[in-house]
Amino acid sequence: MQITDLTSHNGSAVRQAAELLVDLLPGPTIDEKLKEVQECLAPDKIARMAVEGETVLGWIGGRERYAGHLWELHPLVVRRERQRQGIGRALVEDLEEHVRARDAHTILVAADYEPGIDLYANVLEHLRGVKNVRDYQYEFYERCGYVILGVVPDANGFSNIYMVKRIVPLTR
Ligand SMILES: CC(C)(COP(=O)(O)OP(=O)(O)OC[C@H]1O[C@@H](n2cnc3c(N)ncnc32)[C@H](O)[C@@H]1OP(=O)(O)O)[C@@H](O)C(=O)NCCC(=O)NCCS
Repeated sequence: MQITDLTSHNGSAVRQAAELLVDLLPGPTIDEKLKEVQECLAPDKIARMAVEGETVLGWIGGRERYAGHLWELHPLVVRRERQRQGIGRALVEDLEEHVRARDAHTILVAADYEPGIDLYANVLEHLRGVKNVRDYQYEFYERCGYVILGVVPDANGFSNIYMVKRIVPLTR
């Protein structure tokens, strides 16, 4: 497996990247997902893919926020039959390296969390006792060194747990 740039010059990879989004992050049609992939390929963004031969095993995107000090990780997908083999972590580490090279210090990511819970009752208490009841990706990010920052209740059918990681040593 190799991790390399996902670019618009590689039509087959772009198509596969969109198909992975359709399969793994349900929502709009392939045409809309193709548009989403193209948006991730803009020069001010980062798009990296894990490939084996001509097959895209997964890919990751990043865009800058807060005047480039912080980058948001989105999207991240790994082909179903290749999950739990370290590819997601390798893509996250690769993105971290590229973000570090751009002199940013933090990565932010939003992960789906349990719908239908009234988080307003006591958000902080709930987050303190958060449990991975349904294979939610936040535990994957925890294993990659990300910590829970907060939650946006009822964001997109799910709630969104926001997680962050400082990718350079803290300096004062
Ligand atoms: C989430 C996703 C990217 C993880 O990729 P992956 O290649 O399967 O992850 P890895 O094999 O690198 O896993 C790294 C670690 O996280 C753990 N892990 C992976 N997915 C997990 C989950 N859903 N829940 C709990 N732990 C998980 C692995 O067991 C591994 O543990 P380790 O520290 O003991 O080695 C992948 O499952 C995926 O594409 N899911 C569908 C799309 C999606 O939800 N994307 C994220 C949007 S925020």
